[in-house]
Amino acid sequence: MRGKKIIIGVCGGIAAYKIPQLVRLLKKRGACVRVALTDAGARFVSELTLATVSEEPLYRNIFPPTESEGVDYTRHISLGEWADALVIAPATANTLARLSAGLCDDMLAAIFLTLRPGKPVLIFPAMDGQMFLSPSVQRNIATLAAQGCSIVTPESGELASGICGIGRMPEPETLVAALEEALHERALSSPLYGKKVVVTAGPTREKIDGVRFISNYSSGKMGFAIARAAVERGALVTLITGPVHLSTPPGVERVDVESTAEMNAAAEGFFGSCDLFIGAAAVSDYRPAAPYEGKMKKDDEHIELRLVKNPDILAGFGRQKSASQLAVGFALETRTGLESARKKLTEKNLDLIAFNFFDRKTCGFDVDTNILTLIGSDGVATELPQLTKDEAAGKLLDAIEQRCLNNGL
Ligand code: PMT
Repeated sequence: MRGKKIIIGVCGGIAAYKIPQLVRLLKKRGACVRVALTDAGARFVSELTLATVSEEPLYRNIFPPTESEGVDYTRHISLGEWADALVIAPATANTLARLSAGLCDDMLAAIFLTLRPGKPVLIFPAMDGQMFLSPSVQRNIATLAAQGCSIVTPESGELASGICGIGRMPEPETLVAALEEALHERALSSPLYGKKVVVTAGPTREKIDGVRFISNYSSGKMGFAIARAAVERGALVTLITGPVHLSTPPGVERVDVESTAEMNAAAEGFFGSCDLFIGAAAVSDYRPAAPYEGKMKKDDEHIELRLVKNPDILAGFGRQKSASQLAVGFALETRTGLESARKKLTEKNLDLIAFNFFDRKTCGFDVDTNILTLIGSDGVATELPQLTKDEAAGKLLDAIEQRCLNNGL
């Protein structure tokens, strides 16, 4: 659960009083929890309680409280993109009907509609027994189940009305266990589950002298997003990274290096044992031939810096990989550099290459989004739109999973 981003949708049922406890249990396990409350839900549990226990703002209306606040065009869709899973508890008859009909009249409905494919949705209906068993509610439940939602049948027992019957929401501990299982199942179904994946990320630094170096603008965001996405699919991930200012994604083994020689030595240690090697690092192609000890003086008008070629880490892996290992690279080119990317795919003996260019605004180095074209070793190229680096990482891994399936890996 560590690092998982969970949204809890809370509707207007008496069981809503159990949700603050659910939030606390999830947070104790290291999850980041946000709550979307329906108007009816707000009559059973206060916004203040939920915002306090989750330590996050509460989400209710699609529209901002005052229009003079300025318009955030992504407010209604950003949470669906953010979440790893959506839990709707308690789910009322009314909300089941809204969701099965595809309405978008509050934040919870918008999150439901914009949640990324493949992310688990767990729905815990809780209501009067007769209401639950009514044909209308059962029809809506069947519609949602057919869309891939997991519907958890309510428990039997004493209901708020005093009547005994089906309709009680399970205790928060049971909800947590169901969520853990759903997240685990998703990972289990991935061909990357249990595979050893090595990702290189960030820049390398090549010393000129004791205080100066040659490097580039890589922030590590792309490689870290890939590592995060691979762990979510159950892979055992080692992230070899140059100097960056990013925290390690939960579940990832991180190896910090500085120079290309160090990155190469760290990577070579995994060449024989990894199932998949992904080179997202912006590796310096050259290094100063003879770095100066101490600090260079500025006495001379001109100095010459002789550079020598660095080892190509990815090509090294490509040369010696076995039939059961996959090599995936990136090609950072100018906007029109697709052909050059294809050349790198062949020369480095890769199974897949992600061509990207750089404009320091929408793609490439040091920005939160990227525009990738994925080229397989069969020559087929798939152009992706501008995506967040997390989304782009997801698409890259989808393509890798497909290759694993095609090759029986
Ligand atoms: O880190 P960010 O700010 O998020 O930016 C992401 C990125 C732009 C750095 C990333 O998307 C990217 O394109 N990484 C590869 C950059 C690069 O060095 O491209 P290249 O075309 O020079 O290299 C081709 C491939 O060979 C790359 O997979 C690279 O990691 C690898 N390589 C290159 C040289 C070398 N000596 N060793 C290598 O392993």
